[in-house]
Amino acid sequence: MNLQIELAPQHKSGLLLKNPVITASGTFGYGIEYAKIAEVQRLGAVICKGTTLHSRAGNAQPRTQETSSGMLNAIGLQNPGIHIVIDKYAPMWETWQTPVIVNIAGETVKEFGQLAQLLEGVPGVAGIEVNVSCPNIQEGGAVFGANPHTVAQVTAAVRRSTTLPLIVKLSPNSGDARPTALAAAEAGADAVSLINTVTAMSIDIHARRPALANGTGGLSGPAVKPIALRMVYEVAKELRASHPHVPVIGLGGISTAHDALEFLMAGASAIQLGTINFVNPHAGVEIIEGIEEFMRQEGISDISEIIGAAL
Ligand SMILES: Cc1cc2nc3c(=O)[nH]c(=O)nc-3n(C[C@H](O)[C@H](O)[C@H](O)COP(=O)(O)O)c2cc1C
Repeated sequence: MNLQIELAPQHKSGLLLKNPVITASGTFGYGIEYAKIAEVQRLGAVICKGTTLHSRAGNAQPRTQETSSGMLNAIGLQNPGIHIVIDKYAPMWETWQTPVIVNIAGETVKEFGQLAQLLEGVPGVAGIEVNVSCPNIQEGGAVFGANPHTVAQVTAAVRRSTTLPLIVKLSPNSGDARPTALAAAEAGADAVSLINTVTAMSIDIHARRPALANGTGGLSGPAVKPIALRMVYEVAKELRASHPHVPVIGLGGISTAHDALEFLMAGASAIQLGTINFVNPHAGVEIIEGIEEFMRQEGISDISEIIGAAL
């Protein structure tokens, strides 16, 4: 059975994964922590926590909250900064069979370009995922990801600064991700991933105030799956017609092989696992095995027979 997936068909060296199961940014640390308990080398790829130019302590506590069938978070991009990621983690990733993609977040368009430039030629870094769901400081804190024009600017700045495969991660919060997906594809993204978290909130009724210190947070987990699936389906359909060599990576609430197969059939070439990693660190391997089992049962020899089957 062939589960291999080419994530960057337009890129000169490509980004070939042994299977389509990737762990999502912010939910799998740097892979290194999970490597002690899970079979990280069997994953298609790992995406590390969002990385900024300088270290960040993140938002005040509380910054996570369980909700019915999901979780809210407002971590605020806590991370040690790009230099530590390059010096401390990349040398370990270089020894792995599983490629590691670095997720980056800037406060300005220029900063996104700088982050990409710093990753250029670093052994152990297989690609870049750009998180456009962060506040654009130059534009008074509006989110980059909501506006196709700013998504194009960020994508173009990163594209100019890197020869690495480039994935642009889209926000669901405009309601329709097709305009931002098209903007990213036109500005040089090798692939797009969606969805990031859905802006949401929870109230502490005893304190009579929002449960998260930040007020609002991002909703993830099973609660967002049907929304994510609809958005992936729409974007895959759109890109198939206009940019057939720009794959879509689907995520949002995937917890089982059944969920993963739905996203693949909706047109995702690969999937990412987020919140489920907190519940079950072995979910990645179990989902790979579940996809293989489905393919065996259905007499499918190549994963490409499934991708976009429901479009
Ligand atoms: C605690 C937490 C931290 C996250 N941090 C990041 C991040 O740093 N960068 C990013 O692009 N997405 C981040 N995300 C979003 C996830 O990668 C993913 O897009 C989202 O959770 C939806 O997938 P899921 O429902 O499978 O979790 C984070 C999500 C959670 C729950």
